[in-house]
Amino acid sequence: MNQKLRVGIIGGGQLGMMLLQEADLNAATYTVLEASEDCPSKPYCQNFIKGSLNDAQAIRNLAAVSDVITWEIEHIDVDTLVELEKEGKTIIPKPLILKMIQDKGAQKTFFTENNIPTAAFDLIDAADIQSLDFSRYPQEKIVVKTRTGGYDGKGVSICLKQDLQQGNVPFEGPILVEEFVEDVLELAVIVAVDQNGNHTSFPSIEMYFNEKSNLVEFLFSPAKVNETVEAKSREIAEQVITAFQTPGLFAVELFLTHEGQILVNEIAPRPHNSGHHTIEGCVTSQFAQLNRILLNKPLGDTSLKQPSAMINLVGPENFVGTYELDNLNYWNNQKDVFIHMYGKTESRPNRKLGHVTVIADNFEKLLERAEFVKEEMKVIPS
Ligand SMILES: Nc1ncnc2c1ncn2[C@@H]1O[C@H](COP(=O)(O)OP(=O)(O)OP(=O)(O)O)[C@@H](O)[C@H]1O
Ligand SMILES: [Mg+2]
Repeated sequence: MNQKLRVGIIGGGQLGMMLLQEADLNAATYTVLEASEDCPSKPYCQNFIKGSLNDAQAIRNLAAVSDVITWEIEHIDVDTLVELEKEGKTIIPKPLILKMIQDKGAQKTFFTENNIPTAAFDLIDAADIQSLDFSRYPQEKIVVKTRTGGYDGKGVSICLKQDLQQGNVPFEGPILVEEFVEDVLELAVIVAVDQNGNHTSFPSIEMYFNEKSNLVEFLFSPAKVNETVEAKSREIAEQVITAFQTPGLFAVELFLTHEGQILVNEIAPRPHNSGHHTIEGCVTSQFAQLNRILLNKPLGDTSLKQPSAMINLVGPENFVGTYELDNLNYWNNQKDVFIHMYGKTESRPNRKLGHVTVIADNFEKLLERAEFVKEEMKVIPS
């Protein structure tokens, strides 16, 4: 038998866990690097290295036992990965793409340089905000984002133009100022590129956000858009990812404007919350697809088998501690409801503890069932 491929994953969260759940263990073994052993991926990996994702030596230790390396989180020591790639290590996606994505300013600049439609923006230091040419921003609201370090809506603030004109910025240091896109429909397309440069995308999903936490609370596929918008969304998503010139799996977050324009918001260079429904909903899931890419296999079929919805299970407000799902027996007996818990020990407000996928034969039934799950399924203290 051939030697098994040794895969290294930087990060031990739920994305890594689901990648491991779809691993072909006849073909590969997996090592996870994570700071705490109490993490979702630990029970599923063959080897575990305890260490900080920002520690060069820890990343080098992972590289020493891996033939190919990937990550499941962006906030990692990318410079070490750049060095390792120069030394000949296979890293998917290419680390320079992660380095660019870590800086929302560089990412937006890449979009404009490659003729990818995106909301108008400026890069400026928060202290210089009053020197911004505000005539470029006709809306009353303007979006301000920290260039680095943001996630799950942290580092994003929708501001009033007049506040910014008076010098009131919610962040310090380098920021991205962006046109507020009104009445937007948020879509996402997962794009996969194999090691030979072949690429494909999954049918788009449509998302709803919880206004308080700014987390995606509900998403479904197919998105409620016409065929032209669907085709255009996937075309733009594949266009931006192929411009990266790297293998990998990427989530492309899109805005569909009131006028029907499709704008690229941002890219995640890894499996994404907006692709969780692909586990039950698609012929090949986003995780199986990434495993195929890492193992240098041909890409799988991305077709949607039936309408699917995904609901995040997040920690309730005002509660920190151990938890369980209320009425678990009832939910386990629902044949159209698939519960994925991430095995996190402690609930914290808005922490992603798991997700649920709901499938149905038609769209009306799907939304009705998903609404029901969203309303009735509860995380409670245990
Ligand atoms: N230009 C914009 N116009 C309107 N709404 C926006 C704009 N930019 C961001 N938003 C809203 O804020 C949310 C979070 O923004 P963004 O995706 O850039 O930040 P993030 O923290 O990196 O995201 P994530 O939640 O994907 O980790 C978007 O999904 C959208 O709802
Ligand atoms: Mg986002």
